[in-house]
Amino acid sequence: MNAIEISGLKKTYSVGFFRKTEKVALRDLSLEVHEGEIFGYLGPNGAGKTTTLKLLMGLMFPTSGWAKILGMDINHPLVRASVGFLPEQPYFYDYLTAAELLEYYAQLSGVPAKERGPRTRKMLERVGLAGSENTQLRKFSKGMLQRAGIAQAIVHDPKILFLDEPMSGLDPIGRREVRDLIQELHDEGKTIFFSTHILSDAETLCDRVAVLNKGELRGIGVVADLLADSGNKVEIVWQGSAATAAVRALNAECHTTGEIARAVVSKTVLDAAIDVIRQAKGNLISVTPVQATLEEYFLKRIDQGASAGGNTKADSPVLEVKA
Ligand SMILES: Nc1ncnc2c1ncn2[C@@H]1O[C@H](COP(=O)(O)OP(=O)(O)OP(=O)(O)O)[C@@H](O)[C@H]1O
Ligand SMILES: [Mg+2]
Repeated sequence: MNAIEISGLKKTYSVGFFRKTEKVALRDLSLEVHEGEIFGYLGPNGAGKTTTLKLLMGLMFPTSGWAKILGMDINHPLVRASVGFLPEQPYFYDYLTAAELLEYYAQLSGVPAKERGPRTRKMLERVGLAGSENTQLRKFSKGMLQRAGIAQAIVHDPKILFLDEPMSGLDPIGRREVRDLIQELHDEGKTIFFSTHILSDAETLCDRVAVLNKGELRGIGVVADLLADSGNKVEIVWQGSAATAAVRALNAECHTTGEIARAVVSKTVLDAAIDVIRQAKGNLISVTPVQATLEEYFLKRIDQGASAGGNTKADSPVLEVKA
């Protein structure tokens, strides 16, 4: 069974004076997320990621289309207990302590009264907030708040987790901790659907990703396949700088260090490049496929959309690519 099934989901907002203008935030989105996978929902600012998550959480009504979670309509009463949600900007009542917040959410999601205390302590420990349970949330750092947000999303042990930009605004250590936590939850068999514009996090974590831009799905697939598909470059290293001019003539960039030369060429001219290197008495040292990155794939999909939809450089997306 699919964990999530989305079909023709569309959302338009009424904006402007007298709300007369229709703005399409999400356009006929159809996709499936399998049980037990980590699914990355990628897109630049304004792509429609939060809109999708809010629709799936039943916080807004779609203009058209439908979605199912674990085979049930998203408004089915049993869905709530099966999902946990970390919103993009969790507005917690910040005079509450971390423990009070979690007990409140545990109650909302139907955890029996006598289990709430132990469950709260366990979850706070799990997200690294043991010792801060009696601290008010207004005294928490951004990283601690994000961890409290994740704790409230998992306090009732849901099968599916929806996380809207879980790593955003965190320092490298905080991001690493959240990544590890997502991995652990996945290892326990949970399905995780998270949105992000930090591509390296998606590349490390996800089984599959979808790329969204301006409300439209631009690409979807297994991370490894997408990368294999978009990587058509090969790096050649050889000894003997005499061949560099001939390799450059094949439209390849060459770098030389003493007698060692290196070029990255497209696969289509690989044979020709090797031939000219041999003719110039160069000694081949290595030929290695260049691994594409999710960033390249992402930019390609966004660019394709831009040329199809007449996007301009000025409103091209700002991406966050971190090591
Ligand atoms: N309440 C609203 N009223 C009108 N337009 C909205 C509303 N909420 C979102 N939008 C518009 O819908 C589009 C999608 O917004 P959404 O917040 O879903 O994007 P996002 O992918 O989550 O972006 P970000 O990365 O900035 O969080 C944007 O153009 C946004 O301006
Ligand atoms: Mg968003």
